[in-house]
Amino acid sequence: MWDLWLQRTKPVVPVIVINDLDDAVPMAQALVDGGVHLLEVTLRTEHGLEAIRDIRANVPEAIVGVGTVTSTQQFHDALKVGAEFVVTPGFTASLLQCAQEWGGPFLPGVATTSEVMQVREAGFSRMKFFPAAAAGGRDMLRSIGGPLGDVSFCPTGGIGAETYGDYLELNNVFAVGGSWLTPEKLMSARNWQGIKDIADAVRS
Ligand code: 3PG
Repeated sequence: MWDLWLQRTKPVVPVIVINDLDDAVPMAQALVDGGVHLLEVTLRTEHGLEAIRDIRANVPEAIVGVGTVTSTQQFHDALKVGAEFVVTPGFTASLLQCAQEWGGPFLPGVATTSEVMQVREAGFSRMKFFPAAAAGGRDMLRSIGGPLGDVSFCPTGGIGAETYGDYLELNNVFAVGGSWLTPEKLMSARNWQGIKDIADAVRS
């Protein structure tokens, strides 16, 4: 599924925090208009689930996932409102089991080689490397790529417009995530053109 999706989008995943539900659709439209289709809507605010539902209903070009999932209840709730992929900051046995039963696109968070091995053993070969900058950044990912070269990552955490390109140069990075694509300042000003400009500027 990821391969199919990655043909349709620039290789970045905005990590989105919705403070006002009315922002969800125009923000998603701005990102999609700028060529960014994979959207991770976090459950950090009470509007996360509704935002996923609204974007799915109104922005068909978007590929909408849920982020900051830390419980199986949240996992199920997000699937009910139409989340197409699920991202977790770390993993637990119950979250891995839930993802196995679902069988859809799942990005569990990992930060060490042992975690990568555990998640791979559970049957997943794509993971979120989080918190990317704090957990060793590009050098860490390059080092992991030696012994664990069959795994590919979406690094997230502490990455911005100046650094995402360095990560994308790595063979084991399929996309880069972060909140720099939807800055709080532009969101609260409802500056959708500004968000589209950021998406436009992302390299393909
Ligand atoms: C995440 O949940 O992926 C991160 O908190 C996003 O990190 P950033 O705000 O440093 O991009």
